[in-house]
Amino acid sequence: MAKSHVSTTVNGDPVEFLCEAPETMLDVLRNTLGLTGTKEGCGTGDCGACSIMVDGTLVCGCLMLAVEATGKEIVTIEGIGAPDRLHPVQQAFLEDAALQCGFCTPGFIVAAKALLDRNPDPTETEIRYWLAGNLCRCTGYDKIVRAVQHAAAGMKGQQA
Ligand code: FES
Ligand code: FES
Repeated sequence: MAKSHVSTTVNGDPVEFLCEAPETMLDVLRNTLGLTGTKEGCGTGDCGACSIMVDGTLVCGCLMLAVEATGKEIVTIEGIGAPDRLHPVQQAFLEDAALQCGFCTPGFIVAAKALLDRNPDPTETEIRYWLAGNLCRCTGYDKIVRAVQHAAAGMKGQQA
Protein backbone atom coordinates (compact mmCIF):
# COMPACT_ATOMS: atom_id res chain seq x y z
CA MET A 1 0.00 0.00 0.00
CA ALA A 2 1.32 3.46 -0.90
CA LYS A 3 2.27 5.56 2.08
CA SER A 4 1.38 9.18 2.66
CA HIS A 5 3.91 11.72 3.84
CA VAL A 6 2.61 13.81 6.73
CA SER A 7 4.15 16.99 8.20
CA THR A 8 2.77 17.99 11.56
CA THR A 9 3.72 19.31 14.99
CA VAL A 10 3.82 17.07 18.04
CA ASN A 11 4.37 18.58 21.48
CA GLY A 12 5.82 21.71 19.91
CA ASP A 13 8.30 19.91 17.64
CA PRO A 14 7.98 19.66 13.85
CA VAL A 15 7.49 16.00 12.94
CA GLU A 16 7.30 14.14 9.63
CA PHE A 17 6.20 10.56 9.13
CA LEU A 18 4.96 8.10 6.53
CA CYS A 19 1.69 6.28 7.11
CA GLU A 20 -0.74 4.03 5.32
CA ALA A 21 -4.28 5.30 4.73
CA PRO A 22 -6.00 3.22 7.46
CA GLU A 23 -3.46 4.04 10.19
CA THR A 24 -4.83 6.10 13.07
CA MET A 25 -3.06 8.91 14.87
CA LEU A 26 -2.88 6.59 17.86
CA ASP A 27 -1.08 3.95 15.75
CA VAL A 28 1.46 6.48 14.52
CA LEU A 29 2.05 8.06 17.92
CA ARG A 30 2.72 4.70 19.54
CA ASN A 31 4.25 2.62 16.77
CA THR A 32 6.02 5.14 14.53
CA LEU A 33 6.89 8.02 16.84
CA GLY A 34 7.47 5.95 20.00
CA LEU A 35 5.14 8.10 22.10
CA THR A 36 3.59 5.27 24.09
CA GLY A 37 2.08 7.42 26.84
CA THR A 38 -1.12 7.57 24.82
CA LYS A 39 -2.90 4.26 25.40
CA GLU A 40 -5.19 2.06 23.34
CA GLY A 41 -8.09 0.72 25.37
CA CYS A 42 -11.00 0.07 23.05
CA GLY A 43 -9.87 1.41 19.67
CA THR A 44 -13.46 2.48 19.01
CA GLY A 45 -13.83 5.89 20.68
CA ASP A 46 -15.43 4.58 23.87
CA CYS A 47 -12.79 4.69 26.63
CA GLY A 48 -10.76 7.92 26.28
CA ALA A 49 -7.43 6.19 26.95
CA CYS A 50 -6.13 7.61 23.67
CA SER A 51 -7.07 11.25 24.42
CA ILE A 52 -4.88 13.82 22.69
CA MET A 53 -5.25 17.51 21.82
CA VAL A 54 -5.44 18.52 18.17
CA ASP A 55 -5.35 22.26 17.53
CA GLY A 56 -6.62 22.76 21.07
CA THR A 57 -9.51 20.31 20.80
CA LEU A 58 -9.76 17.08 22.77
CA VAL A 59 -9.76 14.16 20.34
CA CYS A 60 -9.69 10.38 20.56
CA GLY A 61 -6.48 9.40 18.78
CA CYS A 62 -8.04 6.08 17.78
CA LEU A 63 -10.75 7.88 15.78
CA MET A 64 -8.40 10.21 13.88
CA LEU A 65 -6.63 9.08 10.74
CA ALA A 66 -2.93 9.85 10.85
CA VAL A 67 -3.11 11.65 7.49
CA GLU A 68 -5.48 14.15 9.14
CA ALA A 69 -2.55 15.38 11.24
CA THR A 70 -1.16 17.35 8.31
CA GLY A 71 -0.54 20.92 9.44
CA LYS A 72 -2.06 20.34 12.87
CA GLU A 73 -0.67 20.97 16.37
CA ILE A 74 -0.85 17.76 18.38
CA VAL A 75 -0.27 17.54 22.10
CA THR A 76 0.08 14.18 23.85
CA ILE A 77 0.62 13.29 27.50
CA GLU A 78 4.37 13.54 26.84
CA GLY A 79 3.86 17.25 26.11
CA ILE A 80 2.13 17.97 29.41
CA GLY A 81 4.59 18.69 32.21
CA ALA A 82 7.92 16.91 32.67
CA PRO A 83 9.22 14.47 35.30
CA ASP A 84 10.88 17.32 37.21
CA ARG A 85 8.10 19.83 36.52
CA LEU A 86 4.72 18.15 36.68
CA HIS A 87 1.64 19.93 35.40
CA PRO A 88 -0.70 20.83 38.30
CA VAL A 89 -3.16 18.18 37.09
CA GLN A 90 -0.42 15.53 37.21
CA GLN A 91 0.68 16.72 40.66
CA ALA A 92 -2.90 16.56 41.93
CA PHE A 93 -3.39 13.02 40.56
CA LEU A 94 -0.27 11.98 42.49
CA GLU A 95 -1.22 13.71 45.72
CA ASP A 96 -4.82 12.51 45.64
CA ALA A 97 -3.83 8.96 44.61
CA ALA A 98 -6.23 9.30 41.69
CA LEU A 99 -4.91 6.21 39.94
CA GLN A 100 -4.40 2.53 40.52
CA CYS A 101 -3.22 0.57 37.48
CA GLY A 102 -2.62 3.87 35.65
CA PHE A 103 -3.74 2.68 32.23
CA CYS A 104 -6.48 5.31 31.97
CA THR A 105 -4.42 8.06 33.60
CA PRO A 106 -2.76 9.70 30.56
CA GLY A 107 -6.16 10.06 28.93
CA PHE A 108 -7.71 11.52 32.07
CA ILE A 109 -4.87 14.01 32.49
CA VAL A 110 -5.04 15.19 28.88
CA ALA A 111 -8.84 15.49 29.16
CA ALA A 112 -8.70 17.27 32.53
CA LYS A 113 -6.13 19.75 31.26
CA ALA A 114 -8.33 20.41 28.23
CA LEU A 115 -11.23 21.14 30.60
CA LEU A 116 -9.22 23.50 32.80
CA ASP A 117 -7.82 25.31 29.73
CA ARG A 118 -11.37 26.29 28.74
CA ASN A 119 -13.03 26.38 32.16
CA PRO A 120 -10.57 27.09 35.00
CA ASP A 121 -13.26 26.84 37.68
CA PRO A 122 -15.52 23.88 36.83
CA THR A 123 -18.17 22.56 39.17
CA GLU A 124 -18.07 18.91 40.20
CA THR A 125 -20.92 18.22 37.80
CA GLU A 126 -19.06 19.90 34.94
CA ILE A 127 -15.96 17.82 35.72
CA ARG A 128 -17.99 14.61 35.78
CA TYR A 129 -19.74 15.45 32.49
CA TRP A 130 -16.47 16.46 30.81
CA LEU A 131 -14.74 13.27 31.89
CA ALA A 132 -17.69 11.04 30.99
CA GLY A 133 -15.83 9.89 27.87
CA ASN A 134 -12.91 8.60 29.93
CA LEU A 135 -13.38 5.21 31.56
CA CYS A 136 -11.54 3.90 34.61
CA ARG A 137 -12.14 0.40 35.87
CA CYS A 138 -10.09 0.82 39.07
CA THR A 139 -10.70 4.02 41.00
CA GLY A 140 -14.45 4.58 41.12
CA TYR A 141 -13.82 8.11 39.77
CA ASP A 142 -14.19 10.05 43.06
CA LYS A 143 -10.45 10.54 43.56
CA ILE A 144 -10.06 11.58 39.94
CA VAL A 145 -12.77 14.22 40.29
CA ARG A 146 -11.24 15.44 43.55
CA ALA A 147 -7.81 15.68 41.90
CA VAL A 148 -9.21 17.83 39.11
CA GLN A 149 -10.91 20.07 41.70
CA HIS A 150 -7.61 20.40 43.59
CA ALA A 151 -5.68 21.12 40.39
CA ALA A 152 -8.19 23.85 39.49
CA ALA A 153 -7.89 25.39 42.95
CA GLY A 154 -4.09 25.25 42.81
CA MET A 155 -3.94 26.81 39.35
CA LYS A 156 -6.24 29.61 40.50
CA GLY A 157 -3.95 30.20 43.48
CA GLN A 158 -0.92 30.40 41.19
CA GLN A 159 -2.63 33.07 39.09
CA ALA A 160 -3.74 35.15 42.11
S1 FES B 1 -8.71 3.69 22.59
FE1 FES B 1 -9.57 5.48 21.76
S2 FES B 1 -11.38 5.81 22.89
FE2 FES B 1 -10.62 3.89 23.62
S1 FES C 1 -6.50 3.40 37.25
FE1 FES C 1 -6.83 1.46 36.31
S2 FES C 1 -8.23 1.91 34.69
FE2 FES C 1 -8.05 3.77 35.79
